[in-house]
Amino acid sequence: MESFEQSLVAVGRQMNEELDRLLPLSDGPERRLQEAMRYSSLDGGKRLRPFLVLQSAGLFNCTQVGSLRVAAAIEMVHCYSLVHDDLPAMDDDDLRRGRPTAHKAFDEATAILSGDALLTKAFEVLAGVETHSDPQVRSDLVMELALASGDRGMVGGQMFDLMAGELEMDVPAVTRMQQLKTGRLISFAVESGGVLGKAAPQQRLALKAYAHDLGLAFQIADDILDVEGDEATVGKGVGKDADAGKATFVSLLGLERAKTQADMLWRQAVKHLDVFDERADLLRQAAQFVVERKA
Ligand code: IPE
Ligand code: IPE
Ligand code: MG
Ligand code: MG
Ligand code: MG
Repeated sequence: MESFEQSLVAVGRQMNEELDRLLPLSDGPERRLQEAMRYSSLDGGKRLRPFLVLQSAGLFNCTQVGSLRVAAAIEMVHCYSLVHDDLPAMDDDDLRRGRPTAHKAFDEATAILSGDALLTKAFEVLAGVETHSDPQVRSDLVMELALASGDRGMVGGQMFDLMAGELEMDVPAVTRMQQLKTGRLISFAVESGGVLGKAAPQQRLALKAYAHDLGLAFQIADDILDVEGDEATVGKGVGKDADAGKATFVSLLGLERAKTQADMLWRQAVKHLDVFDERADLLRQAAQFVVERKA
């Protein structure tokens, strides 16, 4: 069987090809916007969310064309969220995926617009007839991505993150914030395969439970990397959370307890996949990867 690492590399390649196809350049002033969209989405990142889409879709024999489009749509939303997260008005970061952040490489206005356009493009891609022959499935995908990304999902979590300094942040509060900020989009990536493949309710519940624990473990690892990570390997600035006084799992629990928690969560995530056969093995391996990764 293909190893997890090989599979992640293959997904990276497929995602670049798909995004390259979906984000062509045109002539005219909008070309600069398209160049910024491509700059922030091509050739970078772990492509974990696309990997999760393709693996979950693989459990239900979905077509490759449809799953790649859903994977690209989710990655577009993720890339847009990173572009905006790095802006001076938010985390004010200069380095992303080992390169200057979008507002450094272009300018702030172009970075904002390229984020807006990536977000919008994601819905255009989901709504396209090539994504699935059944319009109900396409409409469900659009609805689920909107819920995962908006005020009750990622953007709501980002607001929570910015306000956290003024709030009383305990472990349940940080858990809720991270759930919105990071967890919801990861959950949608995992669950989208079940939507595309019209999975049975019991299978969808299993994926949901797996995604919940995986998303939390992922964000705890991100917080740990901000403390222990090496900038060159992580590809983004480190030590930023403590400098900004952010409430994170590490600031609340300390490094050791945060690590114990992440370890417990990935093991728990794997157990939720018991209803699936060996076709879920790479998803099982992904759970350990999100915690042990160095980038
Ligand atoms: C970073 O996500 C931002 C968070 C949601 C914590 P990733 O660690 O998946 O970033 P890339 O896509 O690999 O660059
Ligand atoms: C950002 O969280 C999550 C998003 C929704 C973009 P972070 O601010 O911790 O992400 P990094 O560490 O900059 O990648
Ligand atoms: Mg942030
Ligand atoms: Mg940030
Ligand atoms: Mg972080």
